[in-house]
Amino acid sequence: MNLKPLTLSCPVIAIDGPTASGKGTVANQVADALGFHYLDSGALYRLTALAAARANVALTDEVAVAEIARALETRFTGETILLSGNDVTHDIRTEIAGQNASLVAAMPSVRTALLERQRAFVESPGLVADGRDMGSVVFPAAVVKVFLTASVEARATRRLNQLIQKGNPAILQDVVKELRIRDERDINRPVAPLIRLADAQLLDTTEISANEAVEQILKWCKNLPAFK
Ligand code: C5P
Repeated sequence: MNLKPLTLSCPVIAIDGPTASGKGTVANQVADALGFHYLDSGALYRLTALAAARANVALTDEVAVAEIARALETRFTGETILLSGNDVTHDIRTEIAGQNASLVAAMPSVRTALLERQRAFVESPGLVADGRDMGSVVFPAAVVKVFLTASVEARATRRLNQLIQKGNPAILQDVVKELRIRDERDINRPVAPLIRLADAQLLDTTEISANEAVEQILKWCKNLPAFK
């Protein structure tokens, strides 16, 4: 794992945090407001798990899954995500796809295989990247690092509402249980665990809206030389 501080060609905003903390929505809106590019790093782990399953590779076979990660053929065009030319935008968003992503994300060689691919998203005028290790491993030189979080109950309620909207009703207790499993795995894995860095701004969205979170991040950016 490459932990050397990188020199970045343009500003990167790293937004890390647990599952269903609203990172995707907030990061997307910050990117739009600044006219920056956006990296959804979780999508790469979801794509890896999906590609492995479709190739009948066992999600426990680290060598084979890492090979799949290295060879991933993906395209992000607007909201659409393609895997080997097929639209998998919805397939990678299911609960099982998230659980499988967190299994393969715990494998060191899978993380190494995806590292440079993530760094290649840096492009002028700047990048907003969301995930678990954006500030710690992928972009340690990010100009703004945010740890976006919310209580398990708030995150589970938001996730439940998303599921209902998509026509997949679920039970709150089950959603809470799944979030706790995923949190546990993301926080306790030995490589690139989800942590709040000392130089990351803490943003708790339990009591605030996504818009308010976006405004707060933009305020932090405004005060920096890179944004003047
Ligand atoms: O963010 P999202 O829920 O789409 O991520 C799916 C899974 O991928 C997470 O539960 C986590 O295990 C993993 N992940 C990661 N590092 C990242 C982004 C996601 O380990 N930078």
